[in-house]
Amino acid sequence: MVSKSFQDNITFIFMFVFMFFAIAYAEVYDITKFGAKPNGEISKALKDAWAAACAARKPSELLIPNGKFYLTVFEFKGPCKAPIEVKIDGTLIGPEDPLKIPKGVQWITFSYITDLTLSGSGTVDGVGAAQAWASNDPRVTIAKGSPLQYNLSFNFIKNSLITGITSKDSKNFHVNVMTCMNVTFDNFNVVAPEESPNTDGIHIGRSKNITIKNSKLGTGDDCISIVDGCENLHIEGVQCGPGHGISVGSLGRKTGEKPVVGVYVKNCSFSSTMNGVRIKTWPDSQPGEVVEMHFEDLSMDKVDNPVIIDQDYCPHIQCNQEKPSKVKVHNVFIKNVKGSSKSREVVKLKCSKANNGCQNVHIEDINLTYDGPSGPAVQTCSNVKPVYSGKIVPPGCA
Ligand SMILES: *[C@@H]1O[C@H](CO)[C@@H](O)[C@H](O)[C@H]1NC(C)=O
Ligand SMILES: *[C@@H]1O[C@H](CO)[C@@H](O)[C@H](O)[C@H]1NC(C)=O
Ligand SMILES: *[C@@H]1O[C@H](CO)[C@@H](O)[C@H](O)[C@H]1NC(C)=O
Ligand SMILES: *[C@@H]1O[C@H](CO)[C@@H](O)[C@H](O)[C@H]1NC(C)=O
Ligand SMILES: *[C@@H]1O[C@H](CO)[C@@H](O)[C@H](O)[C@H]1NC(C)=O
Repeated sequence: MVSKSFQDNITFIFMFVFMFFAIAYAEVYDITKFGAKPNGEISKALKDAWAAACAARKPSELLIPNGKFYLTVFEFKGPCKAPIEVKIDGTLIGPEDPLKIPKGVQWITFSYITDLTLSGSGTVDGVGAAQAWASNDPRVTIAKGSPLQYNLSFNFIKNSLITGITSKDSKNFHVNVMTCMNVTFDNFNVVAPEESPNTDGIHIGRSKNITIKNSKLGTGDDCISIVDGCENLHIEGVQCGPGHGISVGSLGRKTGEKPVVGVYVKNCSFSSTMNGVRIKTWPDSQPGEVVEMHFEDLSMDKVDNPVIIDQDYCPHIQCNQEKPSKVKVHNVFIKNVKGSSKSREVVKLKCSKANNGCQNVHIEDINLTYDGPSGPAVQTCSNVKPVYSGKIVPPGCA
């Protein structure tokens, strides 16, 4: 006679094995089974494969296998019925002519998906082309908005992971993360030349709990830019360069901007970048707030401005520099920053005179060197009185 508990155990084991297989063997939707051909345009096949995968009631995988595929424009739109993985092993090539992508639409968009994994060893190549970048001159686009597309857009994505993919030569920002929650970029790489304008690596706005780790970001503008409404961002083990560094801002230009709360940049390296870590706000600005900034364990190699707060940020257009920025910057913790600077002002804190300046700024263990012609390395401060601890080289502001 077989005991009840033995039966229970057997049932349990069967259930466990079944669940294991159900999870381990997500059904694969290979675009080549939906009519995609290497070197062909795949919009139709991708649409059909996505519709099938997204409607599946158990975990599924949409596969873009090895090979070159041309893609004019596509939106991976949820919600999907179950967790879904999009695996890009091949190269997706965007249209050379940016006008092929309708105005206001990005090249590849992921939206309204929970439990997305975007993985693979592939590349999305925006074919940034010199011609497209020429029309992306910030002097024009700051005023008018850019006609060019971001490479990859993530909107309303939740509990998701992006890993392995490389974004190359975007015509505009490589990756735009908007209104996302709990998304991790791990081993996600951006490749573009130093002279490609406005090609921010990862641009993040209105998002919470975003992590970027173990990634190499090299581009012509900010490696990572963080704008209004971001909370609890973790950036760790990122190698930035070429590029303009990791920036919070710019902020204060538009009305109704939400605070940026909690940015943790840790164990990152910057190589020949324009900035290391930066907070930038416009003069004569709308109110705003930047709070809980933690910049820690950073190494700088020939960086123009290793640590900079610039509350007079006003490139390309005319600003009323007499009126201070009304963005309040407080609770800033800068710790263990080492390496070499290409300018003399290795730590430059240019705070606004509004809101009593930057409040509660702590600086601990700095060792930044400058060996150029303009004299010894210095730290400069306006409208801020940092609290120093540990070894500070060069000395902090008196
Ligand atoms: C971004 O899009 C551009 C075209 O706009 C393309 O050349 C580039 O490879 C894309 N990069 C990524 C990472 O998607
Ligand atoms: C965040 O997303 C990951 C998937 O990347 C998931 O495993 C985790 O449970 C999510 N966390 C929360 C709090 O939902
Ligand atoms: C966001 O992060 C906070 C703090 O790390 C955590 O308590 C919360 O569960 C996270 N929420 C989501 C949806 O990931
Ligand atoms: C720091 O980042 C590098 C990548 O730049 C990584 O290899 C290393 O493991 C990280 N160290 C720690 C302590 O996380
Ligand atoms: C600062 O770093 C330099 C090398 O970049 C090193 O020679 C020097 O000893 C360091 N100073 C301190 C106080 O750690």
